[in-house]
Amino acid sequence: MTGTAGPGARAAIALGITAVGIAAAILLLGDRAYMWVKAAHVIAIISWMAGMLYLPRLFIYHCDALPGSELSETLKVMEHRLLRVIINPAMALSWILGLWLAWRGGFLTAGWFHAKLAFVIALSGVHGYLSASVRRFAADQNSVSARNWRIINEAPAVLMVLIVILVIVKPF
Ligand code: HEM
Repeated sequence: MTGTAGPGARAAIALGITAVGIAAAILLLGDRAYMWVKAAHVIAIISWMAGMLYLPRLFIYHCDALPGSELSETLKVMEHRLLRVIINPAMALSWILGLWLAWRGGFLTAGWFHAKLAFVIALSGVHGYLSASVRRFAADQNSVSARNWRIINEAPAVLMVLIVILVIVKPF
């Protein structure tokens, strides 16, 4: 223990400050808050996706590292921090801001929004799987091959493409 806040606590503090800032923007800006919240939503999405695309890449390197080696232990720290400091808070913000946008923008009954929601739920499922995999790697109990991690690595990218097309084109 160093006596300073750990990465998880710092991420929670950053999340809290962001939430207060957005709540203030909503109260002070009235109707103009929508575009600011949308900007914050896109920033959160970029952070979430960056982590979701990078974490399986770390797993691919981790498959080649001997358990107990310096590389393996370093990758454990990188995976844990990426998940706790970037991916988890970014996902929470994406959901909160996205649901507020859907409610405020009157999209809750739109067809494109329901399709987007289905893909975002699938993306959140991939998130849960990657999160459980961080714990398995930490215990040296990964059983997925590097080749299969390369395939799993494509899932967030494919879902992202579908989600962005749905929300921008709004085809139905
Ligand atoms: C976590 C649950 C999510 C919900 C509830 C949600 C909902 C929304 C809503 C209602 C909007 C506003 C649409 C508009 O004003 O026209 C929006 C904007 C946007 N969302 Fe999401 N979203 C979520 C996650 C995502 C994800 C995972 C991505 C990308 C991978 C994404 C990408 C975008 C983009 C790029 C915009 C801006 C679209 C524009 O202004 O043209 N969202 N989202």
